Amino acid sequence: MYSDKQNALSSDQEALIKAAGEARRNAAAIYSHFRVGAAIEDADGRVWTGCNVESSSYGLSCCAERVALFKAVSEGVRSFTRIAIVAGGPNVATPCGACRQVLHDYAPDLEIILHNPKTHVTRVHTLQDLIPHAFGDSDLEEEE
Ligand code: THU
Repeated sequence: MYSDKQNALSSDQEALIKAAGEARRNAAAIYSHFRVGAAIEDADGRVWTGCNVESSSYGLSCCAERVALFKAVSEGVRSFTRIAIVAGGPNVATPCGACRQVLHDYAPDLEIILHNPKTHVTRVHTLQDLIPHAFGDSDLEEEE
């Protein structure tokens, strides 16, 4: 389930979209030419940004969402409220499966704000909607 919030965004959501759009300018999308920016807000209201970073060995590329998340996690942040993801193309880009898993590991209740500056479409999802029945750390508990 998602809501089309194009005309009903809070100022915090709009600010996060703006930060993601600015991060997108740094996208190193030298192979795909598909530029993505992300901005994740932590529980203290701080914003951490990222863009996609591609490699000549394509599979080593990293999505904007994980770059933003890993920047924050590497600075000791462990609690997040929402993420904005800005990309072009015909649709609003949703996070790939790998990013959904990693985001779920650190922020299962994350709000996901998707924005396409070309079509001006914005959609708001919950991460739970995007990765139902997710694998998580509680599944790692071994029975003796
Ligand atoms: N990409 C992201 O950064 N985030 C997404 O949500 C979708 C895909 C990147 C990965 C790759 O650098 C390029 O977009 C094309 O897949």
